[in-house]
Amino acid sequence: MPTRSLRIAQISDLHIKPPGQLAYGRVDTAKALENCVATLNAFRTAPDFVVISGDLADTPTAEEYDHLKHLLASLNLPFAGIPGNHDAREMMRAALPNVAYASSSGPLNQKIEVGELDLLLLDSHVPGKPHGELDTPTLEWLETMLASSADRPALLFLHHPPFIAGIWHMDHQNLHNAAELAKIIERHPRVRLVATGHVHRATLTMFAGVACTICPAPNHAVDLDLDHLRKPSFKVEPPAFHLHTWFSGEGFGHVVTHHVPIGTFDGPHPFFGPDGKLL
Ligand SMILES: [Fe+2]
Repeated sequence: MPTRSLRIAQISDLHIKPPGQLAYGRVDTAKALENCVATLNAFRTAPDFVVISGDLADTPTAEEYDHLKHLLASLNLPFAGIPGNHDAREMMRAALPNVAYASSSGPLNQKIEVGELDLLLLDSHVPGKPHGELDTPTLEWLETMLASSADRPALLFLHHPPFIAGIWHMDHQNLHNAAELAKIIERHPRVRLVATGHVHRATLTMFAGVACTICPAPNHAVDLDLDHLRKPSFKVEPPAFHLHTWFSGEGFGHVVTHHVPIGTFDGPHPFFGPDGKLL
């Protein structure tokens, strides 16, 4: 049987402000999202789905979510979002009303089926706090979801990384009950990836025996300060998103994550001329 594949784009940490306002007085997050949407719309083969892994708004306010909806109206792909620490659950629920959340109040967890894949979107938001936590209903929901359809590969998405990334001020505000998440993942080999955001930089490690990533942002990056040299800072580094491609195969198949720069670049140019020789 030929290998089948599915492509899930992940964008993260949009930090949309009201129109005309810059994040931290410096970063045009709306323009950054416009560029990101243009790159996603132009990407071939088109992704099958887009997950936005938190911090959709910045403060947050209803005006920011209105601005976000306006900007996302240009995205020609199906998408879903989960809250980050900069979001507010009820405002997000109101802004994106046609979403089949797992419960009608509280955490905004969702299961989305994309072809042969289950995407499980976990709400790690803690109201009023920068760190993340999966509450008991969310952990129970995850266990129940993973126990059903046990033959389907599953990708988990949440905002807060469940590991120490080495950037001291972000490590204080990662997922505080990561051990509880690990116990569930270890019981379910169909989990093929844990994909997060929050740190605005591409990062890869293993967690509970599974590849675990942080997605870069379309705007600014948290400064890569691994030695506590500076106060919490950001840099406007090259913007990017992640493209998680699942390939069918033995067991639950495998996932390859590509780092995709946002923007337009010189190329593609052919390596070979009409005669088949290297140019
Ligand atoms: Fe965040």
